[in-house]
Amino acid sequence: MTSNPTKHAAPKAPSGLKLFIVAPECVPFAKTGGLADVVGALPKALVKRGHQVSVLLPRYRGIEPGPVVLPSVSIPMGRKLLFPDVMDGRERDGVSFYFVDYPAFYDRKSLYGENSNDYPDNAERYALFSRTVLEFAKRTGPPDVIHCHDWQSSLVPVLLKTLYATDPQLRRVGSVMTVHNLAYQGIFPPDSLERVSLPADLFSIDRLEFYGLISWLKGGLIYADYVSTVSKKYAKEIQTPEYGHGLDGVIRQRADTVTGILNGVDYDEWNPETDPHIAAHYSADNLEGKLVCKKDLLEQFGLPTTDLRKPVIGIVSRFATQKGFDLIAEDADAFMKNDLFLVALGTGEPHFEELFRQLAKKYPTKMAVRVAYDNALAHKIEAGSDIFLMPSRWEPCGLNQIYSLRYGTVPVVRATGGLDDTVEPYDPKTGHGTGFRFTRYAASALLECLLTALKVYRSEPAAWRRLMINGMKKDFSWNHSAGEYEELFYRVVKKVQRG
Ligand code: ADP
Ligand code: GLC
Repeated sequence: MTSNPTKHAAPKAPSGLKLFIVAPECVPFAKTGGLADVVGALPKALVKRGHQVSVLLPRYRGIEPGPVVLPSVSIPMGRKLLFPDVMDGRERDGVSFYFVDYPAFYDRKSLYGENSNDYPDNAERYALFSRTVLEFAKRTGPPDVIHCHDWQSSLVPVLLKTLYATDPQLRRVGSVMTVHNLAYQGIFPPDSLERVSLPADLFSIDRLEFYGLISWLKGGLIYADYVSTVSKKYAKEIQTPEYGHGLDGVIRQRADTVTGILNGVDYDEWNPETDPHIAAHYSADNLEGKLVCKKDLLEQFGLPTTDLRKPVIGIVSRFATQKGFDLIAEDADAFMKNDLFLVALGTGEPHFEELFRQLAKKYPTKMAVRVAYDNALAHKIEAGSDIFLMPSRWEPCGLNQIYSLRYGTVPVVRATGGLDDTVEPYDPKTGHGTGFRFTRYAASALLECLLTALKVYRSEPAAWRRLMINGMKKDFSWNHSAGEYEELFYRVVKKVQRG
């Protein structure tokens, strides 16, 4: 990490900024991936730095209703008006939460879709959300900056610079579009513009048109005052065709306003010294508890506990193309013939679920999988494994490898995006480094890297211990990254004031 702790150490901003954070997910309310962890933690860190922060989310199923603070907002939707409420979600850790309540859209089984199909009205659902946020801003006093996350809130910058551009209340509100994953773009048919009451002239190549369709994320990338993504390396990668998902040209065009800010992690949640989910606590000064966690993990997965020296490789992941598990599929036997345990927790694309199920069947004493979403088990894997595997094809930031570092679980990763920015390669000469990396996206490169790690694990226990401790001592807490966001928000305010 290129962290300079002193640079961002002192909470500044005597008066502070008024910030709206608009996102589709946030722990503890709704989560499908790391975005929710980020939106759960960044606002707290911004409040500590003296800012006034409100988080706005849809009120999904399971989120308790609160008092209605803005009833019956009129939102145009094609030929109709819809009337959502805004509810007060109360304050937590100094952060105010508000929920856009419209049960017909958000009171559903899942966030974005069911049985691998997106909900057919996602355009309407998130257009309603974005517009309601702006109406709320008008009624409650506009923020200095609206910080938008992923395609679900990317209409906010579009609306600010088009339909609301001359609104006396909102015309001085700045926006930042943060991309957590360029692969998810919110692509809809051209008639979606009309369906959500956006101007038809947005259908053009320099606006939201994307190969004959509409890309909401492209809108956010074009209209936001600044664009950020979640690691410095990914900010560079997405300007190349290999990682640009068709939007690299758009991002290159405004490269001077694109920045990478590495995610922090919430050590209140992910800390082996206090974690309530794990079998024993431990720290860099006393690692004894980690072996207890390893035994417990093997038991959880029904694997033998007779030889605790054998390395446990852990995986916690969405099972998606992004995560690189086809590199295991390509040569699974070569992987499994090593003397190791492999435990995997995840859900997602059926062929990856099947891959791990088949491996568990074929190697029942070495491999086990849990096809589920299970937060407590995720913590047990971080604590009980020796190695954490993330062979991602692309990885904007990645949080699990950062959690692994804190738990003394050595990451083996592909050197891409945030994995490259957070895992320092082990150098046998100096003893420096925190993990193992490979670059070429190939099964043979993954295997070679894993074998190098296993060799150090087996034959150099002192070096391995040092590696573990090097990782445990790294600090990826939010304060530094929140400081970088703060600087970015002040840049936005300046830009907006210049007009
Ligand atoms: P992504 O957001 O791309 O899925 P990240 O590494 O940024 O990847 O974040 C993933 C987050 O989701 C982590 O907090 C991880 O622990 C959690 N997670 C992913 N899959 C599962 C699962 N099956 N059960 C529990 N937690 C999971
Ligand atoms: C996305 C990315 C992941 C990142 C997370 C939080 O889901 O896939 O790499 O850590 O968002 O920013």
